[in-house]
Formats: sequence, C-alpha cells, structure tokens
Amino acid sequence: MTTGTGGMTAGGRGRGEGIPPPDDESIAFALQVWQYKQGEVVALLIHLGDRLGLYRAMRGRGPVTPTDLAAATGLQERWVAEWLRGQGAAHLVTICGGDRFELSEAGAAVLVDEESSLLFAAGAFGPQADETFVDDLAEAFRTGIGMPYDRQGPSGAHRTERMLGPWARLALVPRILPALDGVVAKLAEGATVADVGCGAGVALGAMASAFPKSAFHGYDISRHAIDRATEKMAHAGLDNVTLHRSSAEALPTEPTFDLVVTFDCLHDMTAPEAAMAAIRRSIREDGTWLVKEIRCAPDLEGNLVNPMAALMYGFSVTGCMSSALSEPGGAGLGTLGLHPELLGRLTAAAGFSRFSLHDFDDPANLYYEVRP
Ligand SMILES: C[S@@+](CC[C@H](N)C(=O)[O-])C[C@H]1O[C@@H](n2cnc3c(N)ncnc32)[C@H](O)[C@@H]1O
Repeated sequence: MTTGTGGMTAGGRGRGEGIPPPDDESIAFALQVWQYKQGEVVALLIHLGDRLGLYRAMRGRGPVTPTDLAAATGLQERWVAEWLRGQGAAHLVTICGGDRFELSEAGAAVLVDEESSLLFAAGAFGPQADETFVDDLAEAFRTGIGMPYDRQGPSGAHRTERMLGPWARLALVPRILPALDGVVAKLAEGATVADVGCGAGVALGAMASAFPKSAFHGYDISRHAIDRATEKMAHAGLDNVTLHRSSAEALPTEPTFDLVVTFDCLHDMTAPEAAMAAIRRSIREDGTWLVKEIRCAPDLEGNLVNPMAALMYGFSVTGCMSSALSEPGGAGLGTLGLHPELLGRLTAAAGFSRFSLHDFDDPANLYYEVRP
C-alpha cells in the first residue's frame, strides 16, 4: 500500500505536474488526520498484544528480542518482530538497541495489571462487533434511532466490563462506599442493594464478596451483560447476588433497597427520568443512591478541558448516545450529557431531597450521594 498526494495525470505527464504543492496548513492537517489512522491501527496492535499475552510475557523480563518473545509466547518470530517494532515506534515499549525491546513498569500498569491497577486500559481495545455495526451506525444518522448495547455483541459487553472494571473492583469497597453516610455499617449488618445498569457485574461482585450478609440485585437490559454477570457470579461462588434482565423502570414499586447504585449508565438510558422515578419508588426512606457519572460540563467549551474529549464524543456516537436514542423519543443524553447541575435538577424532580458530589480523583467520573 502507498499513501500520498502525488499521481500520474492524464496523458502520462510527470508526478503531480499541474497540481499546486500543498501549503503548510494542509500538510499539518493531513498529518493530524493520519495520526488518527495511526491510532486506529496501533489500537488494534494493542488489542493483539493483550489478547496474545505479549505484554504479559514482556512484563518484568527486561529487554527482549523477537526470538525471546516468540519463544515465551509460542508465537511466530517474524510476526512478533514486526509487532515489537510497531510498539517501539508507538513509544509503548522502549527500543533498547540490538533488536531488543522493553516494557516498563509504568507500561505494565496500563497494559498488563488488570487486577491491581486503576490505570489498566488494554481491556478497552478491540474490534467492533462486525462490519454491519458500522452500517447500522451510519443508518442511525439518517433515522435518528440508535442501537442498544447488545448490538455490540458479547465482545462489546466484555470490553465495557474490562474498561470500567478497575475502579469498581479496586476503589468501590475500600474508598468510595466508606465516604457515604452510614452505608458500610448497613452493608456489614445485612442490607438489600440494587445495581441498576449493572453491566457484567464487576461492582456487584466486589460488593457481594465484601458484604456476605447483604443481598444484591443486578438489573440490566443487556442479555450479553447479564449472561456474563451470571457466569462470573457462579465462578466466584457468590450466592447473595440475583440478576434480572430488565430495565430500571421495572424495579420494585415498594421501598425495598437500602442502597441503589447506578454506574456510568443513566446517560445511556432512553428514559433516565423514568429510571430515576423508579429508583425513588424502590428506595427506602433512609436509603442511599450512589451515582457514578462521567465528569462533564454543560457545554462543549467546558468539556474541552478534558484531554480525552474527542474520545468521549466518539464513545457517545458509537455507544452511549446511540443507546440513549435506541427507542423513538429517547433522551439521548450521551457520554458527556449528564453534568452535575442537570443531575441535581433531575434527582430533585424525581423526589430526592439530598444531593452531594464526591470527587475521588477518578479521572473519568464524578460520584454523587443522593438521598430521599
Ligand atoms: C456503560 S455500561 C455500564 C455498565 C456497568 N454499570 C459498569 O459500570 O460496568 C451501561 C449499561 O447500562 C445498561 N442500560 C442501558 N439502559 C438501561 C435501562 N433502561 N435499564 C437498565 N440498564 C440499562 C446497558 O445495557 C449497559 O450494560
């Protein structure tokens, strides 16, 4: 494959003859655009490094040659060599000379340490469900109707689980729940808890194993997420978790829950106000609702302080806003659509009287303690 702006003109004249040379601004713009293509391709190589165990094999090993890494992973040396060179060019591994490459400890925290690093990111990488997903996304621009999470297939649920998992697994029980008024004491004694929009159940698993006397209920409309959560609860031997494949609006209508959590999901819902009203009905008068929502501002300018703003708007079009528009009349809030002021207003309208914001330095999210 070749790339570039040159080419033969009609009549067989020389390369680029008659075409004015591009100006500096156009060249800089083209470079910026190609950097996104580079990002797309490097993203696929990150996924392959994660999937094939290449990063895991490099961890703590010091500088390795393609021969070393191929032997350690059982993969073909020529393929491993090209992958390593690409990783070096992308500054993801250090080029040490002599055809040797090293994964740093910082690199391992982001690319390997899924169980113990809040910075683990490799799980977010992976191909789209299939080619027709993009066809449907293009069609959504015409019809206005998006797609629920399940349209991304089982791999979509798995990617979401791995991308959002570290904070739920590592910070929720030791850091976040203790900051809420009286919640840990209730959970330790035996409380009834709902995780609404529970996805693949990472938060449920963390809470259910820490508080065995409490009963946990997970609600999600995604079949793939509930299947995955069911598998994980069985694997972990957790018998205090019940999973419901149903919408937030189908929560019990009687005051049932001492704690409700909604993590990264209200902005994905077609009817967040109806979900909030259902949560209000299902929560006990002395209960707590813990909301985790994306750190965002009411306007584009405010969101641009986020160095990942373009990624967030991209996630919105491909996932969050699409889900929130997956039914006619959907609210369509999207990834950056539920800012603190709006959430405060909507929770008050749903009948909650107390609302406080907690900032745990989660780079992507803010947390809210909401009470009747
Ligand atoms: C970004 S995922 C977050 C999953 C999980 N809370 C986590 O943090 O890993 C959003 C989830 O909300 C679910 N969802 C969307 N609309 C819903 C609704 N009306 N009721 C229940 N779940 C819903 C989706 O199926 C998806 O699993």
